[in-house]
Amino acid sequence: MKPSILKLEKLSKTFDKFTAVNQIDIEVGQGEIFGFLGPNGAGKTTTIKMIAGLLQPTAGDLSIHGHPMSKDPSRCRELTGYIPDRPYLYEKLTGSEYLSFIASLYPQSANGTDFLGRSQEYLNYFDIEEWQDNLIESYSHGMRQKLIMTSIFMLEQPLIVVDEPMVGLDPKSARIVKELFKSKASEGKTVFLSTHSMEIAEELCDRISIIAHGSIVASGTVSELKQEQKHASENLEDLFLQLTGAFELQEVIAALRNNQNDNVLNRTL
Ligand SMILES: Nc1ncnc2c1ncn2[C@@H]1O[C@H](COP(=O)(O)OP(=O)(O)OP(=O)(O)O)[C@@H](O)[C@H]1O
Ligand SMILES: [Mg+2]
Repeated sequence: MKPSILKLEKLSKTFDKFTAVNQIDIEVGQGEIFGFLGPNGAGKTTTIKMIAGLLQPTAGDLSIHGHPMSKDPSRCRELTGYIPDRPYLYEKLTGSEYLSFIASLYPQSANGTDFLGRSQEYLNYFDIEEWQDNLIESYSHGMRQKLIMTSIFMLEQPLIVVDEPMVGLDPKSARIVKELFKSKASEGKTVFLSTHSMEIAEELCDRISIIAHGSIVASGTVSELKQEQKHASENLEDLFLQLTGAFELQEVIAALRNNQNDNVLNRTL
């Protein structure tokens, strides 16, 4: 693995008595695209918020570029661009005002780094440059996501952490985002993303970890995981379902089929 940029060590988060993230270990190398998969409620967003410095771990620690979050949270935050799963934004700002506001939070801006110049490039890729003088309240969900992504990409931080990047994006925008992640990785930046999409995991991610009920149940490249689980001929979705609760799924499918049969029966009676 290339030099480690993100390291989670026995990282845990408990809410009251509920353990959402249970002693997880993950190491991500520079230039990697790392996928974080798991069912709803598995602990992905909680983990990502700890990496972004928004939630304090209950136990364990994480480090970014060798800086421990517990000792140097502001340095860790400077190095990390966080794209949340829900695009909450200041409704009464225009897109440009929002980008200027984000740029002003970074000292490099005062030293002449042209974040706003760079932002035009991303607005252009995402096809929202004509909207930048409109209030954010008039933006669709996908447009808000594209604006947040622009605000992060323009900062050029070495670690980008993204929670479900493709939700709400049309196929063209999703393709652009995939290409941007690949190009960031080829420049030596690191991308840590959570996703429910097996296609993204297979196509984009150098390595993945699967989390279920707060614990890591598998880690490696997709082909390593398939081999380990003797799933070489099957797809990642089958493997994911087996590791995270296929039995529950079989029960749900059976119940749905029974319901369907009952409905057909009721309609024909
Ligand atoms: N602030 C909180 N207070 C209490 N419980 C929480 C809090 N945040 C998350 N949880 C719980 O922690 C668990 C993990 O939630 P999390 O949002 O990390 O899941 P996730 O893997 O991101 O799921 P999804 O795929 O649905 O986004 C869930 O059971 C959730 O209810
Ligand atoms: Mg989540």
